[in-house]
Amino acid sequence: MDRWTTIIEPFRIHAVEPIRLTTRAERDQALTAAGWNLFSLHAQDVLIDLLTDSGTGAMSRDQWAAIQHGDESYAGSPSWFVFLESVRELFPFRHVIPTHQGRAAEKILYTAVGGPGKVVPNNTHFDTTRANVEFTGAEAVDLVIPEGRQPSLIHPFKGNMDVAALERLLEARGDDVPLVVMTITNNSGGGQPVSLENLRAVRAVCDRFAKPLFLDGCRFAENAWFIKEREAGQADRPVVDIVREIGSLVDGMTMSAKKDALVNIGGWLALDDDALAEQCRNLLILTEGFPTYGGLAGRDLEAMAQGLREVVDEDYLRYRIRSTAYLGDALVKAGIPCVQPFGGHAVYLDARALLPHIPPLEYPGQALAVELYRAGGIRGCEIGTVMFGSRPDGTEAEAAMDLVRLAIPRRTYTQSHIDYVIEVACHVAARARDLRGYRIARQPTQLRHFTATFEPLA
Ligand code: F0G
Repeated sequence: MDRWTTIIEPFRIHAVEPIRLTTRAERDQALTAAGWNLFSLHAQDVLIDLLTDSGTGAMSRDQWAAIQHGDESYAGSPSWFVFLESVRELFPFRHVIPTHQGRAAEKILYTAVGGPGKVVPNNTHFDTTRANVEFTGAEAVDLVIPEGRQPSLIHPFKGNMDVAALERLLEARGDDVPLVVMTITNNSGGGQPVSLENLRAVRAVCDRFAKPLFLDGCRFAENAWFIKEREAGQADRPVVDIVREIGSLVDGMTMSAKKDALVNIGGWLALDDDALAEQCRNLLILTEGFPTYGGLAGRDLEAMAQGLREVVDEDYLRYRIRSTAYLGDALVKAGIPCVQPFGGHAVYLDARALLPHIPPLEYPGQALAVELYRAGGIRGCEIGTVMFGSRPDGTEAEAAMDLVRLAIPRRTYTQSHIDYVIEVACHVAARARDLRGYRIARQPTQLRHFTATFEPLA
């Protein structure tokens, strides 16, 4: 038999990091000290850290070896050319502009194209993307298909753009739209993929209205794997081919290499437009650095180049997507409402459905995330009304969904770690009725979920 059905981690462990068990009393104390904001915990007090899959993965032996090749020349380093070539293997854009992470690429791009009166459509903006668009005075509009807003509805490509809604927006306000964005996979919508068919349809609309189409490409390889698994006619195609087709359908991309380039820091902005690229490079020099390193060390560029080769490995992607679904399958089997199908990088618990007695403006996602930590030292992330509920004018409204994301760092935790997560989540869900909501004690004006402090409601 060529392929056994058990999906194993396709690697052995080469260096280990200790993780620390804590008592419930210690965790209670840590929560109070953190103002019930899980971003404010000391990571040492977290046992299984599922806060994010961003920059938290394990690098391979070959990436650590590549780091030794890092050349730290200020300009024209050989590491830059290694990086450039590896990006262009997948995304052959004329201009590749390295940045220290995804939001730096966003800041540069939206500074160049945004501004008051402009409107940027996206299937769903990630929080930093929305913040960078809005910071310029532009409006960020989410146009995901209606199925993408229904947590338990099964649809193979819930990240797809609502093409008719995009057309309506372009007809009504075409002059105000500098570009159209597709986020793959759709992180804020549950890590859901976009189909090639949808991407082609969006391309056609952009062509008709003469608008550039950009990718937020953070999880491009996971998205390509979903296309291979779920889209008619794609099963026999190498993932690399699918990735290249995705790249061929767009005019540029922003990228957080902390996801599908398998590194702890890095990113880029890539595009074909010469004039826009020049404008972006000028902005890059102001805050990131010279265009051949852009806020990174030469060794970081080498690690990204190697990571990009590894991430399109199909044994890796099969394991990656299957191991995320392993967590989701177990939670759903235990009756815990989750966004389905499961995303590539995370399982999203539907806190609004699990905690119907906590209204959205008392933050059911926050309540559930805090309880997972209190019960078992597991740190997830609220993706709901805390993250998206505050409006630029200072008012507050419930978000489309109240989710808790359990994001899986790449190549980091084993199946027994995940079995433990399942046990703790089942314990918390069984006591759902006892959970109470929160109020926000203090919050900043932007991206409040990072630094707000909370107080439990009686
Ligand atoms: N776009 C998407 C879809 C993202 O998921 C992220 C980051 C970014 C842009 C920004 O990239 O962090 O490198 O500046 N997402 C992380 C997360 C933080 O936890 O989902 P960055």
